[in-house]
Amino acid sequence: MKVNEITKSFEPIFEEKEGQYDELMAYYKCAMMEVETKFRVLNEEFSLQYDRNPISAIKSRLKNLKSIRDKLIKNDFSLSVDSIEENLNDVAGVRVICSFERDVYLLAEALLSQDDIELITKKDYIAAPKDNGYRSLHLIVAVPIYLVNEKRTMRVEIQLRTIAMDSWATLEHQLRYKKNIEFTEEMAEELHLCSKLSAELDHKMDNLRKLVNV
Ligand code: GTP
Ligand code: MG
Repeated sequence: MKVNEITKSFEPIFEEKEGQYDELMAYYKCAMMEVETKFRVLNEEFSLQYDRNPISAIKSRLKNLKSIRDKLIKNDFSLSVDSIEENLNDVAGVRVICSFERDVYLLAEALLSQDDIELITKKDYIAAPKDNGYRSLHLIVAVPIYLVNEKRTMRVEIQLRTIAMDSWATLEHQLRYKKNIEFTEEMAEELHLCSKLSAELDHKMDNLRKLVNV
């Protein structure tokens, strides 16, 4: 199904006109591009300085209408375009996959020190992993976008993680949402063990990085 058809099939979800929703999504897309560019610039500068890339990949996504709708309903927020902007922090999402654990913090600090970036919340699931073993550094930031006649500030969710953290999270997500399969306690324990192994791998790789001195 094309995006437009999905949008149509959920009408009328919002009281306002469809145009207002599209406009808001365009603003989120611009904010996402701003944040992506900031990371690309940091990657470029860093690679000149140290001759290696701290960023392995950047994956961005806009939350689709169905997920937006489900989240508003789940949290008892009103179904309107204004409500999306007021209540949701993760409509625009940027995931930055880093080479080493140290790069995660280095990039986060460099971004947050920029004077047009405002930190809204920070969750450090690397220092304190979630119970299932999930590790990543999450930031919600506010970033300005400059339109023809106005400046708007939009919120963007940023997830920074290493390659090992990303592969764990991707596989965990795939396993957890597998249809018709009961996710047992034993499976959860095994996943938790995998998370520990992946943390150990990250630490060993970071030690190697220190030895190579980059
Ligand atoms: P949401 O309502 O899901 O957005 O979560 P939250 O407001 O509690 O925020 P949190 O920062 O904990 O998680 C936000 C996002 O991080 C999720 O939407 C996922 O993309 C990712 N995430 C968090 N926990 C897990 C996890 O256990 N496994 C995986 N694979 N991803 C996770
Ligand atoms: Mg989310």
